[in-house]
Amino acid sequence: MALVTTKEMFEKAYAGGYAIGAFNVNNMEIVQAITDAAAATRSPVILQASAGARKYANSIYLVKLVEAAVALHPEIPMALHLDHGADFAVCKDCIDSGFTSVMIDYSSHSFEENVEESRKVAEYAHKYGVVVEAELGTLAGVEDEVSVESDKAMYTDPNQVEEFVKSTGVDSLAIAIGTSHGAFKFKPGQNPKLRLDILEEVSRRLPGFPIVLHGSSSVPQEYVKIINANGGALKDAIGIPEEQLREAAKGAVCKINIDSDLRLGMTAGIREHFIAHPEHFDPRQYLTDGRKYVQDIVEHKIIHVLGSDNTI
Ligand code: G3H
Ligand code: 13P
Ligand code: ZN
Repeated sequence: MALVTTKEMFEKAYAGGYAIGAFNVNNMEIVQAITDAAAATRSPVILQASAGARKYANSIYLVKLVEAAVALHPEIPMALHLDHGADFAVCKDCIDSGFTSVMIDYSSHSFEENVEESRKVAEYAHKYGVVVEAELGTLAGVEDEVSVESDKAMYTDPNQVEEFVKSTGVDSLAIAIGTSHGAFKFKPGQNPKLRLDILEEVSRRLPGFPIVLHGSSSVPQEYVKIINANGGALKDAIGIPEEQLREAAKGAVCKINIDSDLRLGMTAGIREHFIAHPEHFDPRQYLTDGRKYVQDIVEHKIIHVLGSDNTI
């Protein structure tokens, strides 16, 4: 199977009450870990690249690495998605270079500007059979070095979603219901609670339409502990409770974005390796351990959070 779009994945996910994991890729080991996990659990998967990833690895490497994963696992439906495309030009570049899905993130602009840029991207993408995700509402946290303070974050207004989707023609919509980017989503003592009522209202207004959640890492404490026990210093790293994501996945949420948890897994494996084997200096040795933890985490998400295992 070649790379696919998310269209069929989302239709099946919506009907089946599960979500597809969208995992960020930055290098070969991460691509391998995610796609081996998808193959082991027989799950479709979305591999997504941010502007930072495309700068770090060079977008051509990322496209070719994902194509290699498709060749190795032809039975697994895989989509290659641009995460947080800043404008039409970035989206066009990805559409022209093999991505099957792009996100136009104009959520920090006015509603009218967001509509206009998203519409332009959708029009271009659809000519080439590429699907488009847009965003309404603003998440807190850090993405591509842009930091949004939590008091500037804004929940999605359900009153705007029908007009937005109708006038842009986008294929899926990311909404803000209390998730945020990064590994420090809540302060200690805060009670993390997603606004599932907003999700409910959005899906009532957009029946059958795929909704996306960004900022959905759960920051598994066992990996934070491994990092801190092996020389790390991550204080008060807190994520979204897995049960709340599972609940969202049962409804209209068809795509759940996870990056920070993979970073924690990779770092935990490498730190643990260096402390256990201070004499090692072959990257293949410590990257093997980092890759193993990333794969474990992705398998866990697919089975226990997304519910997309055994759906191909
Ligand atoms: O949305 C944020 C993702 O975790 C990507 O992060 O921009 O540092 O690659 P990045
Ligand atoms: P996390 O930082 O919660 O992993 O979110 C990732 C994300 O939303 C990528 O777009
Ligand atoms: Zn995001």
